[in-house]
Amino acid sequence: MQVKEGTFLITGAASGLGAATAERLAAAGAKVVLCDLNDSVTSHAAKLGERAKACMADITSSEQMQQAFDTAVAFGGQSGLSGVIHCAGVVSVAKLVDREGNPADLEAYAKTIHINLVGTFNVMRLAAAAMAKNTPTQSGERGVIINTASIAAFDGQVGQCAYSASKAGVVGMSLPAARELSRHAIRVMAIAPGVFETPMMSEIPDEAAQALAAAVPFPKRLGKAAEFAQLAEQIIVNPMLNGEVIRLDGGIRMQ
Ligand SMILES: NC(=O)c1ccc[n+]([C@@H]2O[C@H](COP(=O)([O-])OP(=O)(O)OC[C@H]3O[C@@H](n4cnc5c(N)ncnc54)[C@H](O)[C@@H]3O)[C@@H](O)[C@H]2O)c1
Repeated sequence: MQVKEGTFLITGAASGLGAATAERLAAAGAKVVLCDLNDSVTSHAAKLGERAKACMADITSSEQMQQAFDTAVAFGGQSGLSGVIHCAGVVSVAKLVDREGNPADLEAYAKTIHINLVGTFNVMRLAAAAMAKNTPTQSGERGVIINTASIAAFDGQVGQCAYSASKAGVVGMSLPAARELSRHAIRVMAIAPGVFETPMMSEIPDEAAQALAAAVPFPKRLGKAAEFAQLAEQIIVNPMLNGEVIRLDGGIRMQ
């Protein structure tokens, strides 16, 4: 799949990994639809010029995301939507039993699962339905879906039951979705980032961030959003990448 002249919808594009991906794809000549709950997505899109459009939508809403995909398909013109890079998500921390012996809040658990896992399914199903209508490119492809998991899907830490389960669900959907969508010539991939320097991570104390950076074998630092964007672009252009989850983490295995 070519990036230049393609049209890509990026969720979570008001911040962090999604914003960097939108910037990179726009710089490479793609049309980008920046989608986010946060209204700052409008100013992010404005900075990218005519090849970018903003779309405020909640990834868990059927109607709002359908509208976002309709916007992206129309923006793509004859070639429609080439791909979705789904970065929107939330992090949450809660122990099963807190210091006072109280059980964790069930609604908070369900909320994380709903946004990160059900939201991903919502984005995938609508993206697939939109791209299945595409005329195949010269290389025979109709589209690509890139989801964002996390290394917490594999080595979740204390307090990450909800977050790890939600991201393990994203990992689990990659292969069955890729197998199913192969008949439409649509690829499905996931990136499992390690610890990246984004507004999401700025919520953790400096000391904890420094400890995480030190735990990365090499390079001993947090990942940069631009490095996530670089991998997203490689996945778009490399047709052999399908049905797989790529850890992007400098070799860290969280304890
Ligand atoms: N930063 C990291 O270290 C890291 C590590 C592993 C995985 N991830 C994952 O990467 C993705 C992007 O994270 P980030 O670090 O860029 O975070 P971020 O907080 O900087 O950006 C996330 C964006 O998602 C949007 N969003 C949240 N809920 C939404 C919803 N329901 N509908 C639409 N938009 C919504 C937010 O408004 C925000 O702009 C997330 O799925 C996160 O779990 C991040």
